[in-house]
Amino acid sequence: MSRSAHPAGPRHADVLPEGHYSAPPTDLNALDSKVWAETVTRDTDGVLTVGGIDVKRLAEEYGTPAYVLDEDDFRARARAWRTAFGSDADVFYAGKAFLSRAVVRWLDEEGLNLDVCSGGELATALSAGMSPDRIAFHGNNKSVAEIRRAVEAGVGRIVLDSFQEIVRVAHIAQELGTRQRVQIRITVGVEAHTHEFIATAHEDQKFGIPLAGGQAAEAVRRALKLDGLELIGIHSHIGSQIFDMSGFEVAAHRVVGLLKDIRDEHGVELPEIDLGGGLGIAYTSDDDPREPHEIAKALTEIVTRECEAARLTTPRISVEPGRAIVGPTAFTLYEVGTVKPLDGLRTYVSVDGGMSDNIRTALYDAEYSVSLASRVSDAEPMLCRVVGKHCESGDIVVKDAFLPGDLAPGDLIAVPATGAYCRSMASNYNHVLRPPVVAVRDGEARVIVRRETEEDLLRLDVG
Ligand SMILES: Cc1ncc(COP(=O)(O)O)c(C=O)c1O
Repeated sequence: MSRSAHPAGPRHADVLPEGHYSAPPTDLNALDSKVWAETVTRDTDGVLTVGGIDVKRLAEEYGTPAYVLDEDDFRARARAWRTAFGSDADVFYAGKAFLSRAVVRWLDEEGLNLDVCSGGELATALSAGMSPDRIAFHGNNKSVAEIRRAVEAGVGRIVLDSFQEIVRVAHIAQELGTRQRVQIRITVGVEAHTHEFIATAHEDQKFGIPLAGGQAAEAVRRALKLDGLELIGIHSHIGSQIFDMSGFEVAAHRVVGLLKDIRDEHGVELPEIDLGGGLGIAYTSDDDPREPHEIAKALTEIVTRECEAARLTTPRISVEPGRAIVGPTAFTLYEVGTVKPLDGLRTYVSVDGGMSDNIRTALYDAEYSVSLASRVSDAEPMLCRVVGKHCESGDIVVKDAFLPGDLAPGDLIAVPATGAYCRSMASNYNHVLRPPVVAVRDGEARVIVRRETEEDLLRLDVG
């Protein structure tokens, strides 16, 4: 295989078109510990290894593309959240980030609860043996069948998202001769993403019942009257990939304000408050996420302070991190298929997956980093765009990144921090088969979600 440099490829910072990148890193072979799990290193040949297994072996055995997930890292992060919040709070892992039966078992063993938002996620959780009372059921339009299944199973809480749902859940619970524990999800007029938050008018979205205009208070009034419901608390989720805690501060202030109003009107102190998920991770070296213990301390202090000011007993806090637990634990391993330098622009590196295994770049303009994985190289940095194999020009995995100038077909490259919202949002666009999730631990690899096959696709096509 040729390792020669591509004659027309843009190499340096001397040709830098507009983009999201900073200057080329001084050492392209280095692995920034911010974006790579601790157990990812390079062996003496320069090949990337995870949990003691090199990626060439993984590629040979399991093919590419593949999501490679470090089980110890997942468990350590789950444990760190659990420990940080202690026994006075609950951590619900948000299954939407990535869910499989193995993941459910790990969560169970590490003492976390689970948040699901569809019948499919609920079925996965139950089939892996998660105790139903440790499951929270979310969603803005749960079907009657889903609600019935959840109530029958005995889920610990259903998070109510609309006036219709308050009545629906109450009826179903009564029909089944039970009282369902519920929270009401409210929108507090705060939207937070990454380093910013906005504290105005963000009720304009499909989730939750607005605090503004007294709607949330009315929802509480109705829920408290229904025999089929046991209202245990108020829920708020303000955004995603958040680094700035001030959005939570405003949200907690407003949620506690509602708890106070409820106490004043109904003489009831609701025992729980859920502040949702959305805590950020490092996708690139520019991101500086907070540690779980800092987040726990900040959230607990905010809620305690607000409750003291409102003369309320501090409710039990719960949080729902998804990305912050699973995101950093996995990388996607791709094989390079073509390398196409565009004069004065950048080099397009096509890999054997794309938007079907990572839609986040196309959907959210998400930023990622990428590293040559199957070897090291001393070649000069080349400004690249890593693209997929789909029939869509927006099929971009990494918008702007530097890779070595001698990158060639057959090389393996790895995109870190793809554990969250990649496999769970994967599609079959162009009838491309969804990649496997390979979990690595103690020098052993095992498939926890297998690669899709053409038979899988054709089984559904019954025309
Ligand atoms: C209600 C709720 N909780 C938790 C999460 C998890 O968010 P993240 O994975 O960013 O922590 C989400 C994500 O959309 C959510 O809607």
